Amino acid sequence: MAIITVAGRKGGIGKSTIAGNLAGEFLARKRSVVLLDADPQHSLAAWAAQGQGVLSTCVQTVPDGDVAKLKAQAKAAQKAADIVVIDTPPGMPETAYQAMLLADVILLPCGPSPLDLMALQQSLALAEKARAARREKKTRIRFVPSKVAMSTNLSKALPATLADMGRKVLPAISLRVALAEAVESGLTIVEFAPGSTSHVEFDALAKAVVRILAR
Ligand SMILES: Nc1ncnc2c1ncn2[C@@H]1O[C@H](COP(=O)(O)OP(=O)(O)O)[C@@H](O)[C@H]1O
Ligand SMILES: [Mg+2]
Repeated sequence: MAIITVAGRKGGIGKSTIAGNLAGEFLARKRSVVLLDADPQHSLAAWAAQGQGVLSTCVQTVPDGDVAKLKAQAKAAQKAADIVVIDTPPGMPETAYQAMLLADVILLPCGPSPLDLMALQQSLALAEKARAARREKKTRIRFVPSKVAMSTNLSKALPATLADMGRKVLPAISLRVALAEAVESGLTIVEFAPGSTSHVEFDALAKAVVRILAR
């Protein structure tokens, strides 16, 4: 029933990694999930095609840039599944905006680089616009620190820097090779390395999202 949109104007910040692994966490909790791959790069479809993991059961691709189709697919998925996760492209604001309009929760991942933070301003503005357009729905906007390396000062400062931008900050996802290895195997982290640091982090992120949805 709930729609979670993962968005951000910058490529490579971990949108698809977060969308796919969150879907994995929800599926592990016996929720039914549809994962809409609305990025013409189709990272999620490619990831799912690497193996026979849970992603292969829930990824649906959206025709490139087809905003009307995205809306129709999301509405249909919402009827069929407990949770719909939408992964969006970095460079197509129309598609990202439509996915944000549909969302109950908008997740904006951000890496520790100052360039990531600069791009986040734009993504946040788009999310705030979508939230204002859907006032009756009270869309929740949350930041997700992504690809953090806690040995660095930029990463240590990231949660506080994000909080200063005015939206709540969810549990962070560290930079870990296991996340890339899981993709290589066509698996989500809960399937590939249960109990690993990355899995524990995604478990915490999923818990936080479930808590938001329960409110
Ligand atoms: N937390 C992480 N740790 C290690 N590698 C990551 C992490 N997040 C993303 N990556 C890798 O970085 C690249 C870009 O991530 P991706 O999720 O595709 O970003 P986006 O969807 O924002 O473009 C991919 O190769 C992915 O495997
Ligand atoms: Mg992506």
